[in-house]
Amino acid sequence: MAVTHPVNLTSTPAWIALANLAETARSIHLRDLFTADDQRFTRFSLREEGFLLDYSKQRITTDSMASLHALWQTVAGAQWIARLRAGDTINHTEGRAVLHTALRHSGSEPIYCAGQDVMPDVRRVLDKIARFCNDIHQGHWRGATGERIRDVINIGIGGSDLGPKMASRALTAQHIPDITVHYVSNLDAAHLATVLANLDPAHTLFIIASKTFTTQETMQNAASARAWLTTALGEAAVAQHFVAVSTNLPAVAAFGIDPANVFEFWDWVGGRFSLWSAIGLPLALAIGMDNFRQFLAGGAAMDAHFFNTPAERNLPVTLALLELWNTDFLGAETRALLPYSQSLELLPSYLQQLEMESNGKQVDRDGQSVTYATAPILWGEAGTNGQHAFYQLIHQGGRLIPCEFIACIEPDFMLPDHHAKLLAHCFAQSEALMRGKTLAEATAELAAAVSPLPTFLAPYKVFPGNQPSTTLLLPRLNPYTLGQLIALYEHKVFALGVLWNLNSFDQWGVEYGKQLASRLLPMIEGRTAATELDSSTAGLVAACRIAD
Ligand code: F6P
Repeated sequence: MAVTHPVNLTSTPAWIALANLAETARSIHLRDLFTADDQRFTRFSLREEGFLLDYSKQRITTDSMASLHALWQTVAGAQWIARLRAGDTINHTEGRAVLHTALRHSGSEPIYCAGQDVMPDVRRVLDKIARFCNDIHQGHWRGATGERIRDVINIGIGGSDLGPKMASRALTAQHIPDITVHYVSNLDAAHLATVLANLDPAHTLFIIASKTFTTQETMQNAASARAWLTTALGEAAVAQHFVAVSTNLPAVAAFGIDPANVFEFWDWVGGRFSLWSAIGLPLALAIGMDNFRQFLAGGAAMDAHFFNTPAERNLPVTLALLELWNTDFLGAETRALLPYSQSLELLPSYLQQLEMESNGKQVDRDGQSVTYATAPILWGEAGTNGQHAFYQLIHQGGRLIPCEFIACIEPDFMLPDHHAKLLAHCFAQSEALMRGKTLAEATAELAAAVSPLPTFLAPYKVFPGNQPSTTLLLPRLNPYTLGQLIALYEHKVFALGVLWNLNSFDQWGVEYGKQLASRLLPMIEGRTAATELDSSTAGLVAACRIAD
């Protein structure tokens, strides 16, 4: 299925209309848009799949939304969704299909990749994960000395770490007792050493998670973990204490892990989209297989929504269009992700990889330099912690920072009085960002104070407002809704890639640093001369060079 993208996106009627509308948008204040239209929330909010998406505090109008949808039509958005679904080779620079949706598909229909139904393999690996979880949880799988496994350490990085780590943290309320899952990613020995310091090898299982099984950080941590284990329990213990998750079965065998203990996935699963595959094994061990299947079901429900819902009511498409508007037409360079949920505290770092590794690109699908901005810098922190750190700048720092609030209607942990206060803070922030406070209001407030404050303070109490935000409300946080949430963001990333004409599934930008690090390593280790370096790099190497 061939789909053509407009050769010059910025010359299309929809883009030109948006550029004109943006001129007007700059001079309109959000507070005036709300005053002028008491139906604004109804007009610009969606209730889909149990989620409430309120985007009425974005700096949009009926006209700009219509033109954004016209742009989605111009880029043939619906056909691109069909291509994703059909298993076309849309990751063209790596010659791969993009079928992470197959991993959460529970229907009986086949899903084809290069003419072959992938579902039998997907189900086979899922069944193997289920058996393994059962064996660990029931104590059928034991360590080399006959002890039960109490601690699981997942060694991986990027897509082989961030997803299961974020989801394990998010679903703390569902954790299986007596099993603790740890995540080690950093090449810095401080990471592995501090996790190992409190553990007993006899009770510890390692999962070596790497799609390629060549990533230096993971291979080094795996080698050190293996040395720690074999020093205590001997070489023969490796079989009972190491399993692997990878697409590279020969490399896993070369490391010495029994092929029976390898959980496979496939090259049509991108690293940052792999949480649903065997990369989710540590999550399944943490929350149990029933919960893991609920997580998959939530993802599948969001797939069905994305595939079948018209763009005007489509949650991922709506989020994508709003980000494009803020980035390319209002000039936002960042987006703050602000979950009012401590359990979702790792969501910003997970989404940093998903969004920025996918769409932080300047060359389009046709190899041409783009003439518009792509993925904004994503950052954030759980509310209310962020309020006492960087919100000052969002409110009065003078920069355009679109904010995305996420909250749950019901709490995942019950302690009296907390949740209503948490929600009050969340909604107050978006209200303050939208309304702002004028000089006249600040002055009147000072005068009306019970103990009047000096009037010179008025300018300090002015808030410009007009800061756009979206609020996404989940009914509650559980495996199913977390699955929906993550799939929502995955599809938003894809939809933005379609709009920007990017291949969202490659990541050539991470290669150069790895290449240069391999060149510098022997110089730092003192094995080769430090030559042909710029003076800065040469100076840094000289300061750390290990003596011959
Ligand atoms: O950061 C680059 C990257 O290739 C990511 O895309 C990937 O998730 C990560 O490294 C880890 O790769 P692997 O799973 O192959 O070890």
